[in-house]
Amino acid sequence: MSTTYTEQELPEDVRNIHRAIASLIEELEAINWYHQRVAVTQDAELKAILAHNRDEEVEHASMALEWLRRQLPQFDANLKTYLFTNGPVTQVEQTAGAAGRRRSIAMATERGEGAAPDASLGIGNLSNLRSAVALAKAEGGK
Ligand SMILES: [Fe+2]
Repeated sequence: MSTTYTEQELPEDVRNIHRAIASLIEELEAINWYHQRVAVTQDAELKAILAHNRDEEVEHASMALEWLRRQLPQFDANLKTYLFTNGPVTQVEQTAGAAGRRRSIAMATERGEGAAPDASLGIGNLSNLRSAVALAKAEGGK
């Protein structure tokens, strides 16, 4: 995924989501780079510094991901489905029917095809939904 805009004249909420996603990508890259350097560094003190830096990047990535979760109902639903579970991740997917239903309702509602969002389903407010749809449109409806 590119960290540059693929469309021009984007609304501010979409630009902010882009900024958060680009930042998350950069934090994950930094984690990867530090982790590799930690693995091969022979100097114990440098190894400790690099490990410390890597772990701080994990914090940064987590903060960006949490911001995205709060903005985009798709992130919220999927993270609630998959994070902090046990056992094979692919088996979690098989029992994720509720999260899939939430995503379908949110998208159908935006298209005017479904019922209004129900807060009890954890969909989030309409502002978040508009942001999610704007992002999807900015991505070319992928
Ligand atoms: Fe960072």
